[in-house]
Amino acid sequence: MAVRQSSDLTKFKETLKTAKNVVILSGAGISAESGIPTFRGAGGFWRKYQASSLATPEAFKTSPSLVWEFYHYRREVAAKAQPNAGHIAIANFEAKHADKKITVITQNVDGLHARAGTKNLIELHGNLYKTRCTKCKEVLVNFDSPICEALTSRGAPDEKVVGSDIPVKSLPHCKKPGCEGLLRPHIVWFGESLESAVLERAGEAMESCDICLVVGTSSVVYPAAMFAPQAAARGAVVAEFNIETTPATPDFQYYFEGPCGTTLPRALTE
Ligand SMILES: NC(=O)c1ccc[n+]([C@@H]2O[C@H](COP(=O)([O-])OP(=O)(O)OC[C@H]3O[C@@H](n4cnc5c(N)ncnc54)[C@H](O)[C@@H]3O)[C@@H](O)[C@H]2O)c1
Ligand SMILES: [Zn+2]
Repeated sequence: MAVRQSSDLTKFKETLKTAKNVVILSGAGISAESGIPTFRGAGGFWRKYQASSLATPEAFKTSPSLVWEFYHYRREVAAKAQPNAGHIAIANFEAKHADKKITVITQNVDGLHARAGTKNLIELHGNLYKTRCTKCKEVLVNFDSPICEALTSRGAPDEKVVGSDIPVKSLPHCKKPGCEGLLRPHIVWFGESLESAVLERAGEAMESCDICLVVGTSSVVYPAAMFAPQAAARGAVVAEFNIETTPATPDFQYYFEGPCGTTLPRALTE
């Protein structure tokens, strides 16, 4: 459903002021200015691989070594990155508005919203710094760098690096006595379902918000892609912040073009 669109920031800020329940839905674009590549465009490759093709259960089954190198690289990049003005504007907005219910729902796995100080956070797709045992399913927070000895100096993104030959026994394993299962990143990979409790929390926030900011997401990865169009369809005010339009742009009332490290601080501060 196409709606008449506006980029009137003053009008948007007036609406935001009176809102009681705010959702900020973010994607990889909000971390681009922190130096973390998105999965679209030139940054979407690691070695010769399309990054999204390695974020799959099939890739992990075929080569856990290759997928662990890819995630080791991503953990190291995100650990060195800093939250940018966009993440900080969101965290400050939450801290300053105890009168509103503010929920950040992110598709990102880099942990930068939390590091910026966001408290009410739903990480839809997991987190780079959590592992899950493929055998006993235990989820643990893990900031080790490198996560195991065998990954030292591995994970280079250079496309000249071919193959990956770390023996499975040298990859991260569960430390629970009697288990010793292979660990995997606690990430929702393409083709996998979101955790039902997480999805439920996100659904509740989306259903009850009166305003939603959609920031730096291509709005093509489901189910997050349907959240904001559904909110718009039931009459919530939705504003998109992106450097380019997306398939969902025509559904939204506001569109603010530009890097969100610039546009968000303008929109979220009085
Ligand atoms: N940082 C991360 O944690 C990270 C990085 C890459 C991919 N992912 C995962 O990949 C999937 C990709 O979906 P997605 O929609 O989040 O990302 P995406 O890569 O599909 O799209 C990124 C979007 O951000 C926009 N963008 C780029 N730079 C921007 C900027 N400075 N300001 C505003 N917008 C900007 C792009 O135009 C694009 O629409 C998600 O499931 C996510 O979990 C996460
Ligand atoms: Zn285990």
